Amino acid sequence: MPVLETQGVVKRYESGAGTLTALKGIDFAIEPGEFVSIMGPSGSGKSTLLNILGLLDVPSEGRVLLDDEDVTDLTDRRRTHERHRTIGFVFQQFYLLPTLTAVENVTVPRMFDRESGIEETARDLLERVGLSDRMDHRPTELSGGQKQRVAIARSLINDPRVVLADEPTGNLDRETGEQILEEFTRVTEDGVAVIAVTHDEQVNDYVDRTVELVDGVMTT
Ligand SMILES: Nc1ncnc2c1ncn2[C@@H]1O[C@H](COP(=O)(O)OP(=O)(O)OP(=O)(O)O)[C@@H](O)[C@H]1O
Ligand SMILES: [Mg+2]
Repeated sequence: MPVLETQGVVKRYESGAGTLTALKGIDFAIEPGEFVSIMGPSGSGKSTLLNILGLLDVPSEGRVLLDDEDVTDLTDRRRTHERHRTIGFVFQQFYLLPTLTAVENVTVPRMFDRESGIEETARDLLERVGLSDRMDHRPTELSGGQKQRVAIARSLINDPRVVLADEPTGNLDRETGEQILEEFTRVTEDGVAVIAVTHDEQVNDYVDRTVELVDGVMTT
């Protein structure tokens, strides 16, 4: 059973210039533990689709299913709750907080939880991504690849079912990019589904399959 699915998703943006249809009926599904890349030219709708899959935005038409449950029409509050519970995010620009150490950055999504043991979980995650010796460093003291590994650890702090990554290797050199892709492969081995939007052809060596978006239409 897919962990995340879209059925006939259409996304329109209205502006003074008229209506732009960024997604034109997307049927997509991903199984637990699958690693899928979304490729396509600039402006083809990749980030728009990722935002809808990540419950950050809602479709104009069509349905979004999470664990076979229709989450399209949830209230903002419930959508946010579902997002925090099930989805982790990784971005091209890392978005680490500069004044916080690696461990503190990893705990940020849990900042408002009262439960103890979060720091220990964060340290475990950083160890898993190979940063045992960088736990208490701040982002300025980390390389690009190390920053992205902190971001991956952060994306896992809520024990998500799906990790969504928008150009995760876009700011990294080839070799560092490969390390990050290997990291994602390890994440999928724990049953987490990973969807990576990318222009990076080397991603194809790591993913289970690639889907192509062209002008708002999924062609593969
Ligand atoms: N908030 C918005 N309001 C209006 N138009 C938007 C908005 N977000 C995206 N678009 C338009 O929707 C289309 C798809 O944009 P999207 O950002 O999804 O492309 P992309 O495939 O991620 O491109 P890139 O590879 O450059 O990141 C583009 O034509 C874009 O201009
Ligand atoms: Mg984009």
